[in-house]
Amino acid sequence: MNEHFTAPALDVPAITARQVLKSFKGQEVLRGVDMTVEQGEVACLIGPSGSGKSTFLRCVNHLEKIDGGALYVDGEMVGYRRVGNRLHELKDAEVSARRARIGMVFQRFNLFGHMTALQNVAEAPMQVKGESREMAFERARELLVRVGLGHRLEAYPSQLSGGQQQRVAIARALAMKPRLMLFDEPTSALDPELVGEVLDVMRDLASEGMTMLIVTHEMHFAREVASKVAFMDQGAIVECTSPAQLFEQPRHPRTREFLSKVI
Ligand SMILES: Nc1ncnc2c1ncn2[C@@H]1O[C@H](COP(=O)(O)OP(=O)(O)OP(=O)(O)O)[C@@H](O)[C@H]1O
Ligand SMILES: [Mg+2]
Repeated sequence: MNEHFTAPALDVPAITARQVLKSFKGQEVLRGVDMTVEQGEVACLIGPSGSGKSTFLRCVNHLEKIDGGALYVDGEMVGYRRVGNRLHELKDAEVSARRARIGMVFQRFNLFGHMTALQNVAEAPMQVKGESREMAFERARELLVRVGLGHRLEAYPSQLSGGQQQRVAIARALAMKPRLMLFDEPTSALDPELVGEVLDVMRDLASEGMTMLIVTHEMHFAREVASKVAFMDQGAIVECTSPAQLFEQPRHPRTREFLSKVI
């Protein structure tokens, strides 16, 4: 639909995780996560509660710092800059600049309650990127039309349904022209009848070539849209393969056990 949603070709994966470790107060939450997400790929991450899915997503976005292993986004080590053979920890401004290339959508929409849909979407491009008001609002309008909210531009979050709010949140993330979109259970807080409209927007994005890493419990969606599905358990990826393989012939007993409970 729109060429600027497709990341320009880079010859490095969008995400590379090698033996990523993360502990909270001595409790190991990520115990050696290995995963690669290629450019343009839609990867779904499934697994039981507490297995570390959100923590991993937060590490990719540098909202958490990893304790060991290596994590790269677009070939750049998360949190570090390489100068010659040395690694320098990024300053806050540099972290923010890199984070701006990654869109994140959470279970809770976290929209600004005192701003209209249009203002919510236009805000970051103006504040973070210094875009002109005119440009930011023009683009916000386009994005809201795109997620099916052209008729609710001036609505405040409290006047929108959960599904509409989540679509505003997606438009807001897209307004920063991210190269990569991370979704953490974007439909879990929604009434069942509103889930479909949000998944439709994500399906559209996928078909346009957006690189996405999606934590989800929507197995049908994962099966249909994902190019690969990773099953995470106890802080590690147990199995990562095509949806057909994972859902029909899971190799690992833990994957089988999990799927038998959720499907
Ligand atoms: N900031 C934190 N401080 C301490 N412990 C944390 C923190 N964040 C996460 N944890 C712990 O890390 C573990 C993994 O949490 P995480 O939220 O990543 O799991 P999850 O797979 O996303 O689960 P869910 O499906 O319920 O969202 C849990 O035991 C959680 O209690
Ligand atoms: Mg979670």
